[in-house]
Amino acid sequence: MIQGFLQTATHSWRTQSWALRLMRLWLGVTWIYAGWDKATDSGFLTRGSASFIGTQLSGYSTQSPIGFAFNKLIEHAVPVGVFVMLSEFAIGLATLLWVAPTLAAFGGFSMSLGLWLASSFHATPYFLASDSAYAVLWLSYLLLIRNKRKGFSMSFERRGVLRVGIVAALATAFAGVGKVFTPSVVQESAAATGKTKIVKLASLKVGATKNFALSNGAPAILFRTKSGVFAYSAICTHQGCTVSYASASKKLKCPCHGAIFDPYASGKPVSGPANNPLGKIKVAVEGAWVVLA
Ligand code: FES
Repeated sequence: MIQGFLQTATHSWRTQSWALRLMRLWLGVTWIYAGWDKATDSGFLTRGSASFIGTQLSGYSTQSPIGFAFNKLIEHAVPVGVFVMLSEFAIGLATLLWVAPTLAAFGGFSMSLGLWLASSFHATPYFLASDSAYAVLWLSYLLLIRNKRKGFSMSFERRGVLRVGIVAALATAFAGVGKVFTPSVVQESAAATGKTKIVKLASLKVGATKNFALSNGAPAILFRTKSGVFAYSAICTHQGCTVSYASASKKLKCPCHGAIFDPYASGKPVSGPANNPLGKIKVAVEGAWVVLA
C-alpha cells in the first residue's frame, strides 16, 4: 500500500512537464507552510490573542463583502481554525504526493478565493493582494491537470479512499508536531512593554478616545479624562471580537454578540454574554506623549 502510494507520487513527478512541477511544488510547499505557521502559533487557537482566529474572523466580518458569513463563524472560531489548519496541510500534502490532485486543487482555489474576499478584497492596487494571485494560480493549475487527466471522475474507489486517508493522517500528524514547536502562550493584556509612544497628549482632548495597536498588533483603546489617561485591550473577553467605543452611551460595545463594557468602571461587563472585564493596558504620560508604561 505505502509502496504503491510512493510509486504514484514519484511517477507523477517524473512524467510531468516542468511548468506543472513548478506550480505543484510552489503551491504544495506554500500550503504546508501556511498550516505549519498556524500550528506553531500559540495564539492562533487562544482566545484574546492578537492572532486568534476569532479576532481575524471578526475583522473579516466588518470589512469583507461576505462579512455576514464570517459573523456566523465567530462563535465556532476554534473548530474553524482547526479545520483551516488541517485543510492547509492536507491540500499541500495531497498536491505534492499527487493524491486526489483535482480535489486538492479545487480546495486550494476555494480557500484562496475565500481569503481574497475575506481579507484583501479592498487592497489597492489590487495586485498587492496575494490571495487573488493564488486564486488565479490554483485555478490555472486545476484547469491544467483536468485537461491532462482525461476521463477523471470524482468517484472514490477503495484505493483512492485509503490514499486520501493517509494524507488526512499525515496532515493531522503535521499539526501535532507543529504544537511541539509552539512557544508557550503569552497572554496579551497589559503585558506590552517598552515606552512606545501612542499619541501626543496635546492632540487627545479631555473626554476623547483613541484606538491604537499594541506592539503585537492587538487592538487597544485609550481614554483621557480630567483625572488622567487609561487604556484597555479592545479584544472582547467573550469570543475575541474587537469592541468599539460608543460615545452616546459612553460604553464599549462588541459587534458580535452584544457584550457591553463600562470603561469608567474598570472595563467590567455590564450586559451581554461576557463575564470578564476587558484587559487593562498600562499607559502613562511622559513629557508631551502618552506612552505604553
Ligand atoms: S465576542 Fe461575543 S460578545 Fe464579544
